[in-house]
Amino acid sequence: MEKRVSDFRYETGDARIAWAAVGENIRQEEVANILRFLVRPAADRKQEYDAQFERVMAEVRGLLQVGSYQGKLTLGSQVQALEAQVGELLGARYVSFLTNATAGFEIAYQYANLQPGDEVIAPAITFIATIAYPLSIGAKVVLADVDPRTLNMDPRDVARKITPKTKVIVPVHLGGYPVDMDPLMELAARHDLVVLEDAAHAFGAAYKGRMAGTIGHFGAFSFHEVKNITSLGEGGILCTNLDFGQYFPQARFLGVDPSRKIPNWLYDVLALPGKTGPFVPGNHSATEIQAVCLASQMERLKAIIAKREQAARYLDQRFRAVAGILPAPLSDDQVQTTYHLYLLQIDPDQVGADIQALKAKLAERGVVNIPHFAPLYKFAVMQQMGHDTAALQASCPVAEEAFQHRFTHLPLYDFDQQQLQYLADAVIESVQELKAGR
Ligand SMILES: Cc1ncc(COP(=O)(O)O)c(C=O)c1O
Repeated sequence: MEKRVSDFRYETGDARIAWAAVGENIRQEEVANILRFLVRPAADRKQEYDAQFERVMAEVRGLLQVGSYQGKLTLGSQVQALEAQVGELLGARYVSFLTNATAGFEIAYQYANLQPGDEVIAPAITFIATIAYPLSIGAKVVLADVDPRTLNMDPRDVARKITPKTKVIVPVHLGGYPVDMDPLMELAARHDLVVLEDAAHAFGAAYKGRMAGTIGHFGAFSFHEVKNITSLGEGGILCTNLDFGQYFPQARFLGVDPSRKIPNWLYDVLALPGKTGPFVPGNHSATEIQAVCLASQMERLKAIIAKREQAARYLDQRFRAVAGILPAPLSDDQVQTTYHLYLLQIDPDQVGADIQALKAKLAERGVVNIPHFAPLYKFAVMQQMGHDTAALQASCPVAEEAFQHRFTHLPLYDFDQQQLQYLADAVIESVQELKAGR
C-alpha cells in the first residue's frame, strides 16, 4: 500500500492509513450532480442535453483512468495559493480566505477585544453584516452620518461621535467607492482605535495609490454571489498588515495550532492575543473548490471592473444631460471604485418628486427594486438590542434624507448595449414624466 501524506488539516505526515480515511471523498455521482447544477438544460432541449451529458460523463470516466479524485477538500494548497495571489494583488502582509466577509469582521472585532458596552462607529447606510457581531455581544453601535455625494461614512461626523468607549471604526466602501480614509486613520491614531474596513464591495478598489481594505488595521472582502467576483456563492477574504496576521490560520479555525502539541495529541488550542487581551476564535474555514473558483475569477477581475466602468460612464454621460439627476462618484486619479453598484441620486426639488416616485416609475418599466441599503436604525434588531433608534435617526439627517428622498442603486454587470440603453432610457423617461407632473 502506498504511503500518503495526511489529507486532514492537522498534517500528521506520511501514513498508510491517512486521516482522509475518516471522511467520504467526492465521486462520480457528485461530479455529475455538480455539473448538472452548474450547466442546466435549456427548457426545449432536454433530450439533447441528456445525450450530451452522457458523452461528457464518459469523458470524465476516461479522465479518471489517467488521474484520481481530489482528496483534500478544505484548507489545502488551493486556499494557500489563492491567499498568496490575493496578498500580491492587495500588497497585504497577511491574507485569510474565509466563509464570508462577516467572519472576517468577527475576527477583527475579536482582535479589538470588543466587549459589551464598548462602542463601534459604523456608517448609517450599510448592510447589517457590518455590525452584526457588535450587536450580538451587546456592544453599542454608534452610527455616523454619510457624505451626501458618496453616501459613505462622513469622517467629520465620526470625529464628533468618538467617546472614551469607542474601540472600532468601520468604514464601508459602499458600492465599491472608497471612503475618505486619511482623516479616519488620523482619528484612529489619535484615539488608539482599530479601523476595520468593510470592503465587501471593494475588491480591486484603490484610494490614493493603496488598495481598499489594506489602509485600516483590517479589511474584509465578500465573494457572495452578488459581488463582482464570487467563490461559488459565498466566501470572504480578511487581510491585515498587523503582526497579528501571523495568527490568521488559528483565527480561522478555533485556535487550533498543530505547530504546538500537548502530550499524546496532535495539536494545542490557543486563545489568540488580541489588542488588549486574549480571545477565543470560531470556525470560519473555506474550501478548496471555492478557492479554485475565486482564483480563476481573479484572472478576470480587471476586465470585469473595466466592463462595469464602461457601463457606469455610459449611464453617467446619459444622466448628465438631465437636470435633477446628480453625478455619480466615479474613478479619478485619487480613487478607483470597483463599480459594484451605480449610485443614482436625484434632487427632489428639481425633479418635483422623490426617489420613491422614481422607483415606482422604474418598476413599471421592469427596472425593479434594486436592493440598496436602508439606514441601520430602521431595522428591528437595533431596538431589540437596546439602541435608541429615534436618537440614531436624528443623529444622521443626511442618511435619512437620502434614503427617503434621493437615492437608489442601479445594477452594473455584464450588460449588453441594448440592456444598458434600456436602463438609461427608463431612468430618463421616468424623471421626465415626474417633472411633467405625470
Ligand atoms: C456592505 C456589506 N458588508 C458586508 C457584507 C457581508 O458579506 P458576506 O455575505 O460575505 O458576509 C455585505 C454583503 O452583501 C455587504 O453588502
